[in-house]
Amino acid sequence: QDQSVPSIEGLTLHSTDVQSKFPACYPSLNPVDIYREHIAETIGKISDIDPKLVYTKLAWTNSLDKGDLTLPVPALQVKGRKPNELAAELVEKFPASDLIEKPAAHGVHIQFFFKPEPLLKTIINRILENKATYGTNGNLGLHDPSDASKGKKKVIIEFSSPNIAKPFHAGHLRSTIIGGFLANLFTITGWEVIKMNYLGDWGKQYGLLATGFKRYGSEEALLKDPINHLFDVYVKVNQDMSAQDVPIKELRETIKAKKEKNEDVSADEAQLKKLVDESDDEKARRYFKSMEDGDADALALWRRFRDLSIQKYKQTYARLNIDFDVYSGESQVLPESLKHAYESMEKTGTSENSEGAVIVDFTKHGAKKLGKAIVIRKDGTPLYLTRDIGAIVERHNKYHFDKMIYVVASQQDLHLAQLFKVTELTGHKDIASKCQHINFGMVRGMSTRKGTVKFLDDILRDVGDKMHEVMKKNEAKYEQVEDPHATADTLGITAVMVQDMSGKRVNGYDFNLETMTSFEGDTGPYLQYAHARLSSIIRKAEINPEDLPNADLSPLTESHAIDLARYLAQWPDVVLNTYKTLEPTTVLTYLFRMTHMLSSSYDILRIVGREEKTAKARMALYAAARQVLHNGMKLLGLNPVERM
Ligand code: ARG
Repeated sequence: QDQSVPSIEGLTLHSTDVQSKFPACYPSLNPVDIYREHIAETIGKISDIDPKLVYTKLAWTNSLDKGDLTLPVPALQVKGRKPNELAAELVEKFPASDLIEKPAAHGVHIQFFFKPEPLLKTIINRILENKATYGTNGNLGLHDPSDASKGKKKVIIEFSSPNIAKPFHAGHLRSTIIGGFLANLFTITGWEVIKMNYLGDWGKQYGLLATGFKRYGSEEALLKDPINHLFDVYVKVNQDMSAQDVPIKELRETIKAKKEKNEDVSADEAQLKKLVDESDDEKARRYFKSMEDGDADALALWRRFRDLSIQKYKQTYARLNIDFDVYSGESQVLPESLKHAYESMEKTGTSENSEGAVIVDFTKHGAKKLGKAIVIRKDGTPLYLTRDIGAIVERHNKYHFDKMIYVVASQQDLHLAQLFKVTELTGHKDIASKCQHINFGMVRGMSTRKGTVKFLDDILRDVGDKMHEVMKKNEAKYEQVEDPHATADTLGITAVMVQDMSGKRVNGYDFNLETMTSFEGDTGPYLQYAHARLSSIIRKAEINPEDLPNADLSPLTESHAIDLARYLAQWPDVVLNTYKTLEPTTVLTYLFRMTHMLSSSYDILRIVGREEKTAKARMALYAAARQVLHNGMKLLGLNPVERM
C-alpha cells in the first residue's frame, strides 16, 4: 500500500498562469479556470462589465443540472439595470463558443454548461498526466504566488495531544483525524506544515504515577505495552489514594467534633499529620516538586515513561498515516517562557493578585464572557492555561509561523479564547491574530464491545474485528482477499475516519459500529469498495495504462460518461472550497456524489467485450475517476485499497 502523503513536488507555475489578468487564476492547475477566463472575457466584450468582476463572481453549482458554472447577475451590481433583464440580454448576446454551450438565463442566474468533447479531452488527459497532483494548488501557501523563491508560508498544526497514562478519549480521536486531514490540506496547497503533538505530560499526576510504579510497576510490562501498563498502574495508585482518603476525612471530622466540645485533639492531629504525610497524594506532590526542581532521578523515570509512550503512540499514529514533526508537551514549555508570561501579564496590567494567587479578570478587559482564570496558584505553580500562554510566544519565536491551528474539542472553547485574549492583552496581538482554534463536537457512546474504550488501539482493533465479520459474510469475495486481516484493519480504520468526517465538525455524532462498517450508505467501506472496483476494472482490462493519456475519447458520448467527467472537473475547485471551509465533509460530500455517479455508470459503460476503441476510452475515464478518488481519499488521510 502506498503510505505517502499527498505531495506537490514538481508542480510549478506555468508562465501563462502568472500572466493571467485574473486573480488566483491557474489554468494549468485547475482546468475550470480556462472556462472562467473564457466566460469573463466574453462577457467583457459584449458588455461594459469588468471581466475581473465577472471572473470572481462565477460560482460553482450544487448539482449538475444547474450547469457547471453559474453567474448570479445581482452580484455584479450593475447600476440602473434589472438583474433578470441584464441576464437575458447577456445570454442573448453571448456568441457561439468552442468551449461552452449557449448559456441559459434562469431568473437572475446565468447557467453555463461545458461542451462535452473538449471537456472530456482536457479533463481526462489532465488527470492522467498530473496524477496525484491533480487538484493540488501549491500557490496558495506561497508568500508571493508570482515569485516562488520568496518561499512557503509556515503553519503549525497542533493536534491529537493525548495525556500520558490517561485514556485516549474520543476528543483525542477526533483531534487526530481532523488534524491529520488539515495537515494534508495545507501540504497540498503549498504550505510548509509542522505537525505538533502537545502531550499532557506534566503535573502532579506524574508524581502519582511514579509513586504507583514503585508499588505496582513491572519493567517487563512497561517495555511490552507502556501505554496500557502505565494506565493500569495509574488506576491502581489512584484507588490507593482514594482509600487513604477515607480515614483522613474521618479523622478530620473527629477533630472538628472534638474541638467543638473543647476536647483535646493533639494526639489526633499528630495522627492526621502522619496519615497525610504518608499518603500517596502527598508523595505525589513531593515527587512532582522534585521534578519541577530538576531532580535527575525523578526526571529520569518520568522521561522513560514519556519516551516509551511516544514510541508506542508513533506506531498507532502510523496506522492512521500520521507522523508528527514535533512531540512537544506541557513539560517542554521552557521556564523562561513562563517567566516571560508572568512578567508580561503583570507589566501590561493583564493579571492581578487575588488572595495569594494571580488571576486574569477578563471582565475588566472588555471580555465579559471569558470570566476569570487563575494563572498562578497560591503555591506559586503555573496551570494548564499558563503553560499555553508561555508556549504560544515560545513557538512564535522558535518557528516564526504564519499561522497556527489548535485542533481541540469544543469543550475547550473557553480555554482557547482565554489563551488568545491573554496573548493579545500582553502585547502579542500579531501572534494572536495568526492563531485559530479548530473545534469539534463530542462523540457519543464510544465504547468497544468489551467495555469502555481506553486507547486508540482498542478502538481500531475492535472496528477491524467487526469489519472482518462483515467481510466474511460474502464468502466468495472473502476467499479472494489475499490478506483479510490487513484488509479488515484498513477498512476498519477507514470506517472510523469516514464516520468522523461525515458531518460538520461542530456537530457531535453517535459512535455506531454497525452503521460505519456497512457497505451500504455513505460509509468508509463504500468508498473503499468504489476504489477497489475501479482498480479491478483497470487490472482486468489488459490495456496498457501508458496508452491511456492519448486515447481517442470520441466514443464517450453517453450522458453518464459526460457527467462523470463534469464531476472530475470539479475536484480542484472542491479542494479550493475545502481550503476555505476547513471541513473534511466538503471533500467527503463530493466523493460520495462522484462515486454514486460511478456506481450507476458501470452497467452502461462496460468494457468487457467492447471494441477496442470504446474500451480504451472508457478505461481512460475510469482511470481518471480512480485517480480523483485516490487523491480525495489521500487528502482525508485514508489508505485506498486495490482489492477487497
Ligand atoms: N492534552 C489536552 C487534553 O487532553 C489537550 C491539549 C490541547 N492543546 C493545547 N495547546 N492546550 O485535554
